[in-house]
Amino acid sequence: MQDKIIDFLTKKQDYVSGEEISQRLGISRQALWKHIQELKELGYDIVAVPHLGYRLESSPDRLFPSQIRRHLSTKFIGKKIYYFDSVSSTMDIAVELGLKGLAEGTLILAEAQSKGRGRLGRVWLSPKYKGIYLSLILKPKILPNQASILTLLAAVSICEAIKEITGLDVQIKWPNDILIHGKKLGGILTELNAEMDEARFVVIGIGLNANNDAKSLIAGATSLKEQGKENINRIELLQELLLKIEENYALFQKKGSQPIIEKWRDYNITLGRRVAVFVHKEHIEGEAVDIDIDGGLLIRRDSGVTEKVMSGDIVHRR
Ligand code: BTN
Repeated sequence: MQDKIIDFLTKKQDYVSGEEISQRLGISRQALWKHIQELKELGYDIVAVPHLGYRLESSPDRLFPSQIRRHLSTKFIGKKIYYFDSVSSTMDIAVELGLKGLAEGTLILAEAQSKGRGRLGRVWLSPKYKGIYLSLILKPKILPNQASILTLLAAVSICEAIKEITGLDVQIKWPNDILIHGKKLGGILTELNAEMDEARFVVIGIGLNANNDAKSLIAGATSLKEQGKENINRIELLQELLLKIEENYALFQKKGSQPIIEKWRDYNITLGRRVAVFVHKEHIEGEAVDIDIDGGLLIRRDSGVTEKVMSGDIVHRR
């Protein structure tokens, strides 16, 4: 009901009498008053003026599912949203829900994470109301070793959504670091639940620094606020991101990895550079010549031998 009240007030953009709202929504005046008090507690600025009624002045900067769904034009991504004010990690919840068989497109969102995790066992700092921290359940018909392509798909979608909403140019460092001016803005963690020959479900975890103040960021990190010099609307960015993921996922299902890889190439800053990486304690250094159809990075050593690397933390040498 609260969603309906907010929808109603948002559409009106003016005072609406309590009587009109009650009638339209089929609730008593008393029930309406109670809902309005609860909405105010959630941070909605609703003014009430005798003889005029209620007016919505502003909505809080929260990723409330009702707000996200309002102008979300996706067909299945984000149709079911689990929202948490704070959680250990959205990945844990997503895996739990995935095992219970929740539908493809189910989204787990949190305003803060106490144990946000990054790749290679790192911590993902997730301060409250500052970023976007989400996990998405997908059920692609792929072999387990093809899951990396979804990481590239997510990286491309993030770049497209950020460009669309903020106009900022973002780059990808293989495989999934989202950078602006060489500083890390976001990352992707893909976890797979699979049988021998088929992925049962994949969880794509995305963390983005949105409205973090420059001074609160760790060395080497940045935020959209720091780069764009203004707060961004996290809801708009999230909606755009979900839409881009859905579009790219449809492209992948129709045409395979190739078009995703081509888009990825446009945003990447790794190919053509000299890179170094440790894989199972082995040091591989050479030129990053290409990525293959599974999203693996092809590195040509000085000896001329080309190695394929599927994961790891690469260093750009020059
Ligand atoms: C990385 O670059 O190391 C990947 C970072 C992924 C962070 C996101 S935030 C939402 C989701 N929940 C987590 O615990 N991690 C991912």
